[in-house]
Amino acid sequence: MAKQVATNITWHEGHVDREQRNKLLRQRGATIWFTGLPSSGKSTIAFTFEHALVERGHLAYVLDGDNIRHGLNKNLGFSPADRNENIRRIGEVAKLFADAGLLTCTSFISPYRADRDQARQIHDAAGLPFIEVYVQASVELCEKRDPKGLYKKARAGELKEFTGVSAPYEEPLHPELVIDSGELSPQDATSLLMLYLSAQGLVDA
Ligand code: ADX
Repeated sequence: MAKQVATNITWHEGHVDREQRNKLLRQRGATIWFTGLPSSGKSTIAFTFEHALVERGHLAYVLDGDNIRHGLNKNLGFSPADRNENIRRIGEVAKLFADAGLLTCTSFISPYRADRDQARQIHDAAGLPFIEVYVQASVELCEKRDPKGLYKKARAGELKEFTGVSAPYEEPLHPELVIDSGELSPQDATSLLMLYLSAQGLVDA
């Protein structure tokens, strides 16, 4: 848990509430949190899903691990402490986006259960839906795909602390959804996600 460092700060309440924003956008903001091994298909599914949501008239946005590490989180590496800070920041950013009314899809390995639970907890505390989606694929399958050649580098000892090879991945215990990316195409996964969101009343049936 990050320590509160700043003192003498006061919360300033705005004049526009969440309900007004939701009415303006004709949707309720929520976070759809994709987690899984490298090359499990998180980003492919998240971007396919974002596209489908926008096509249906929803405002959706993907926060993607590789992309965010080019900017906001460019000062973080892959040690457990840096991954914790990576996920802490994204949990907070996703919460803000969801509060703003967006259907926010996050695509991060987020290997530690405690870090994901912390992201969930801050959404719960803010009364915002948090949907954890485990994109499941075996290390063998991910390694076979290896589109960026990172498993290969990790096996050769050229990449340290690589998730699935030399760094841990803690599977979710109670995710809202499990997507077996060895079985489902990104389009199938998107249909499943759409059904789930519609059952939750977050998108129209
Ligand atoms: S997380 O573990 O902190 O959640 P994140 O999703 O932001 O990771 O970033 C993972 C991406 O960084 C991978 O898709 C991969 O392209 C790249 N990467 C580079 N080094 C590593 C590493 N040691 N472990 C995992 N991913 C790495």
